Amino acid sequence: MRRGLSLLLTPLMTTALLAATPVAQAAPEPGCPWVGSDAPVEEKVGQVLSRMTLDEKLGLVHGAAGPFEFVGPTYAGLVPAIPRLCIPQLGLSDGPAGVGNSHTGVTQLPAPLALAASWDRELAAEYGGVIAREVLGKGANVVLGPTVDLLRDPRAGRAFETLGEDPHLVGELAAAQVGGIQDAGALAQAKHLAAYNQETLRNTPADNAVVDERTLQEIYLAPVQDTVDAGVASVMCGYNRLNGVHACNNSYLLNQVLKGQFGFDGFVTSDWFATQASYAAANAGMDLQMPGGCLFGPRLRFGVATGAVPTARLDDMVSRILRPMFRHGLFDRPATGSPDDIVTTPENAGVARRVAERGMVLLKNDDAVLPIQNRRSIAVLGEAAGSGVIGSGGGSPHVIARSIVTPFDGIARRADQDGVEVRFDAGRHADEVAAESDLAVVVVGKWSTESKDNKDIALSAQDNGLIEKVAAANPNTVVVLNTGGPVAMPWLDDVAGVVASWYPGQEYGAALASVLFGDAEPSGRLPVTFPAELADLPTSDPARFPGGRYDEGLAVGYRWYDREGIEPLFPFGHGLSYTTFAYSDLRTDGDTVTVNVTNTGRRAGTEVAQLYVGRPNTGGEPPKRLEGFQRVTLRPGETRQVRFELDERSLAHWDTGSHRWVRAAGDHTLAVGGSSRDLPLSIAVHVPDTTAVSEPTPAPPPGAPAGGDGTLTTLGNVLTCPTEMLYAGAVGAISLVGLPPGKQAEITPVNPSAGG
Ligand code: BGC
Repeated sequence: MRRGLSLLLTPLMTTALLAATPVAQAAPEPGCPWVGSDAPVEEKVGQVLSRMTLDEKLGLVHGAAGPFEFVGPTYAGLVPAIPRLCIPQLGLSDGPAGVGNSHTGVTQLPAPLALAASWDRELAAEYGGVIAREVLGKGANVVLGPTVDLLRDPRAGRAFETLGEDPHLVGELAAAQVGGIQDAGALAQAKHLAAYNQETLRNTPADNAVVDERTLQEIYLAPVQDTVDAGVASVMCGYNRLNGVHACNNSYLLNQVLKGQFGFDGFVTSDWFATQASYAAANAGMDLQMPGGCLFGPRLRFGVATGAVPTARLDDMVSRILRPMFRHGLFDRPATGSPDDIVTTPENAGVARRVAERGMVLLKNDDAVLPIQNRRSIAVLGEAAGSGVIGSGGGSPHVIARSIVTPFDGIARRADQDGVEVRFDAGRHADEVAAESDLAVVVVGKWSTESKDNKDIALSAQDNGLIEKVAAANPNTVVVLNTGGPVAMPWLDDVAGVVASWYPGQEYGAALASVLFGDAEPSGRLPVTFPAELADLPTSDPARFPGGRYDEGLAVGYRWYDREGIEPLFPFGHGLSYTTFAYSDLRTDGDTVTVNVTNTGRRAGTEVAQLYVGRPNTGGEPPKRLEGFQRVTLRPGETRQVRFELDERSLAHWDTGSHRWVRAAGDHTLAVGGSSRDLPLSIAVHVPDTTAVSEPTPAPPPGAPAGGDGTLTTLGNVLTCPTEMLYAGAVGAISLVGLPPGKQAEITPVNPSAGG
């Protein structure tokens, strides 16, 4: 489709290409003394910057793609090297679930939402490490992830790409992932700043998130701050407007909050074709245009020449790009990989499997139908257990596996060890096969993709019907959900067990079999509330979703269900185990909270202990919010003490009057347990005085733009960069049709031959 459009508009494109910035050939810099040097990063940045020509500076602040193209099968984005100064090329690669952009030979990791369900920081770091090593192995060096958008509405096309609905969980796991990516030697890019939560109106004039300051800070920006605190090299500004100003020329967001309040010293990249201004974007704090380069090439050159964009600002943009490149060794370790290399490894596949296993959430387990024990025959049912398996969701986070272990493959292999018979049926005779088996596993899926929101949270009528008929045929029916987020379960009372497996990547079947047979403990916990029905969502009003009215305020996810007294189908944090746990002896000394967790069952198991804080009412306060979590693995009968460290934000709220975090006087409640609706212990902490616990957001810097480019500059942009401006406007149109579904694996998954 892109190529067709490109031919159609070739004359326009030529105009823009002619206007592209030529990089002048200055004299080679002998020896590049900053390479391999131990000098402080700032000194090296200064050395390079002082030798750069204007052309070289402009060449570093935008991508090299032609106006109608992504960089193509190579990377999502590319900033060419400047060999004279030994500046290596930047290859920007999707993304948050492994190497995307149609690459092959890579590991298809479970979706970020599956990682979130593990509530496992170490695993998040390993997950980041796998992505970084494979991105580097392909010759790129910037990972377009982690995604730090919140799961505000389960219909969002990119819900599977988020780390869930809670800012603390998202922030903790994203920060761990940033550590994993950057320790492996790549740059991480947290995305998308800010309040980018729907696809339907994406990049259209109606795409405007109207969010009050407190909600923005506490809910949508706090996870970004966590990635900044973890040293993230780069942040991507999103497609939407925020309170009327586009995210990529939003000086409040970029200059005041991200760079000022959070102290971010890396670079801000535009989402692809999201740049809608040149001077205003540069002055608002955007540093790198992607994937093309007219607005930050010829247009920015003009802006610098006329003084509309200060030279110091261009130098700052360049420094912000060079800084993390030095900090993470990009000058000293030129990329050696190539796009054709096979980068997946057995170790990386092992991480994919562990994430899939630990992310599976056992939602229901009546009469201990699981783990599978003492059964002679199992029916594995549904297309999603075979050819219809979903390992990875669609759009830029899509990753192609070499092959996927389907649920049928995994269960059949594992069952074989115990001499258990396994039969398959895609649907038509599922009830008959179920009736003839000791246990039935029905796998159902729901597809989600970037660029298109789902209309509802329902499974297809066909899948709901399949479950009903199998449940009627066999009381030992276990439903496995292969979905990108919460779905309604009208058949819940009729089935014995339910497992949420998300989009679990290439090792799906192997991981599922270990959980179903009890070789692995189901230690996943819900990173998102499962509502009973669509009407219960905080955002069921179309003005809120997809419309951008964020007036549910702080009541996102479980905060809404708690505040409104709505019973969810399954609450945030819920997940069963094959054993049971008890909590005792909750204490705090002010900075640390401790509690004892005991395994009261007969099997070893892992609990995710969760700490929720309730603040004194400062206005619109939700009853509680997650402020700590720890996984703890216990032998039967074993007790261990779990510790939660509180930080300055744990007991604080955002005070809109003073624009800073404040700890309010009064009683704060600390409640601990195994889910947001199962908190057996709580204590109160009395705070005697109201105190500020952070610096305020700095005032706008002088000359900061209040909106987009003025009319004259916009006209100049349109004339100089017609194709980019057109593309920016057209990106929204994709959400009307959606992207075609990506291929799941190099070796197409198939249904087993008749009878399994
Ligand atoms: C997405 C980004 C992605 C970029 C490059 C955009 O459509 O919103 O998340 O990194 O494309 O593929």
